[in-house]
Amino acid sequence: MKATIIGTGYVGLTTGVCLAELGHQIICVDNNVEKIEKLKDGISPIFEPGIEELIKKNLTAGRLTFATEIAQAINEAEIIFICVNTPPKQDGRAELKYVEKVARDIAESINGDYKVIVDKSTVPVKTAEKVAETILRYSKTGAKIDVISNPEFLKEGTAIDDTMNPDRIIIGVDSKAAEEKILELYRPLIEKSGAPIKIVSVRSAELIKHGANAFLATKISFANLMAQICEQAGADVIEVLQAIGMDERIGNQFLNPGIGFGGSCFPKDIAAFKKTMEILGIDNSLIKAVEEINQNAWQHFVQKIEKELWVLDGKVIGVLGLAFKPNTDDIRNSPAIKIIEKLAGDGANIKVYDPQAMANAQKTLTNITYCQTVNEAIKDSEALLICTEWDEFKNLNLADILKMMATPIIFDGRNIFDQKTARELGFKYFGIGR
Ligand code: UDX
Ligand code: UDX
Repeated sequence: MKATIIGTGYVGLTTGVCLAELGHQIICVDNNVEKIEKLKDGISPIFEPGIEELIKKNLTAGRLTFATEIAQAINEAEIIFICVNTPPKQDGRAELKYVEKVARDIAESINGDYKVIVDKSTVPVKTAEKVAETILRYSKTGAKIDVISNPEFLKEGTAIDDTMNPDRIIIGVDSKAAEEKILELYRPLIEKSGAPIKIVSVRSAELIKHGANAFLATKISFANLMAQICEQAGADVIEVLQAIGMDERIGNQFLNPGIGFGGSCFPKDIAAFKKTMEILGIDNSLIKAVEEINQNAWQHFVQKIEKELWVLDGKVIGVLGLAFKPNTDDIRNSPAIKIIEKLAGDGANIKVYDPQAMANAQKTLTNITYCQTVNEAIKDSEALLICTEWDEFKNLNLADILKMMATPIIFDGRNIFDQKTARELGFKYFGIGR
């Protein structure tokens, strides 16, 4: 089938590349010319394991093309995905102006053939109805469309695998014709992955994405709350949460305490969900608490450092990790960045290393030293912070770290080291919740 993807960010690019890999004819459109030029040369603008190989393979096979102009791409496709960003506005509401602009662009170019418009961007409930209204209002050719919702659940770092082997495919559709079209598109994926498909109403699908992310964020904040309780009570949060997670009704995933959740999705989506609840007149104090605990997670980490190191001015602090999580170069809402800004603001001399995210950080974080290797960041530091749990850091030898540091103090914001081993070697070791 022929499909067009509008917005070639994490979500759009991964969706486009995977649909091409499944045998479809895909045009990915983006208004960022530089990004599209790179992609035409087979270069991925994002670091995502496996994506560049698939871009190159499908470009060569002629199944994947990249363009900056929407007009032609629209009329060649039976299905059009909207994957542009929906960033948070000042008050937490989702900014929908890019989605609206795409709807108007579609209206301007669309011919009279029936097309299915798929909303994949994460948007508040009832957005699909607005998109349909907009296209019909601005179209001069009598557009024949259905707008459906198909939320994505991909995680950065495992985006390809999450898309090719999803836990479930959610389709929110209120028309039989659109349902048939989208099922035809997803048939190869359903056959290959065996993923269950759930057909629901458009409004339900829009709420599933916000609901799922709010629940996952709640789990993480619960874990961070338990960590604080364990620290005060002298218990070990790892032991406590592992045991709690053994109850199948709870499950052990997304129960890792740390320095808080970041990224482009959770903070934005739960803020938008909170706003939706406010608009619907529903008490949103649960979500407010999730946000507060998350804010407290990195601030409490900083307080521990300040308490132990006393005066920060001039102290050499090695920081391992900038990305909001491992296997990505993404630093959006990364707690690591907030921690570094606070400590550097208090005069600490920060030396940082991240395997992938340094180029992104260098654009905004300038008053710190970027190291070429992990050892360079560790060497001569008076304290070492672990902010992202990259495998490269997990595999470090604590005895080697000890030899390199000026004073052996570790603040392990992701609990990657064995605290008993660290303490026996002579480190002053501070984990999370133990
Ligand atoms: C974004 C949102 O964060 C997510 O909630 C939503 O589900 C999908 O879109 P992501 O793919 O990570 O996720 O966003 P981003 O990497 O910013 O990509 C958006 C792309 O759309 C960018 O490449 C941008 O250049 C492009 N874009 C944006 C357009 O092509 N046209 C526009 O008018 C606006
Ligand atoms: C998330 C959702 O998981 C995905 O389904 C949705 O489509 C987009 O948003 P992503 O933001 O890529 O994906 O990353 P995720 O792996 O969910 O991690 C988000 C944040 O939570 C990271 O900062 C991570 O460090 C943190 N986290 C995650 C924890 O602190 N503890 C955990 O147990 C899990």
